Amino acid sequence: MDLQLAIFDLDGVVVDTAKYHYLAWKRLGETIGIAFHEEDNERLKGVSRMRSLDILLEIGGQKRTDEEKARLAEAKNTWYVEYITQMDASEILPGVLDFLDELKSAGIKISLGSASKNARTILERVELTDYFDLIVDGNLVSKAKPDPEVFALSASLLDIAPQSAVVFEDAQAGIEAALRAQMVAIGVGDEHTLAQAHYVITGFASFGLQDLLRILPA
Ligand code: BG6
Ligand code: MG
Repeated sequence: MDLQLAIFDLDGVVVDTAKYHYLAWKRLGETIGIAFHEEDNERLKGVSRMRSLDILLEIGGQKRTDEEKARLAEAKNTWYVEYITQMDASEILPGVLDFLDELKSAGIKISLGSASKNARTILERVELTDYFDLIVDGNLVSKAKPDPEVFALSASLLDIAPQSAVVFEDAQAGIEAALRAQMVAIGVGDEHTLAQAHYVITGFASFGLQDLLRILPA
């Protein structure tokens, strides 16, 4: 395959923001009487803000009007933003910087493909914005993963065929989105959870461009 584009999910691939999402949802849960545990948080990976709220309400057996839901999601986001504005470059996951440098030197385009509306804030905080040729985030797409829109848009805006793109994702919904976009899907995390992916890596600490080129289809 003629590799021209690498698309990265943000939360859980480039930085570990899942812990901040968790803290903010837990805090919201406490204010409305819903106990939210760390294992519940797995269900929120890759999922949009409003869908995450629905899952929290489902856990607590609560029903809310759309207006109330908008207010609750806003409260969660305010807390989440408080956490992420404290982030710095030390929170970039191991090996990510070296890998991005390798891609850049090889002339491979780099795009972000994230569901988060806070993606730009996070990239700024961890000083990664300049690495990205394109940022496609939750403000730009209307259909959430597993819809392929977020990845397909990266390829079309950069005028690159989907078949020349590879996606790095830590969520099942993201792997499905990458496959539906006809891209190579690389799971980052647990090989059982991400079994649908073409290939699964544990992270970038011992994974570089040469490893990627070895596993890509001919
Ligand atoms: C995804 C996260 O990247 O973004 C989800 O994995 C999160 O947990 C979603 O809900 C939306 O993020 P935000 O920052 O717009 O609330
Ligand atoms: Mg993710």
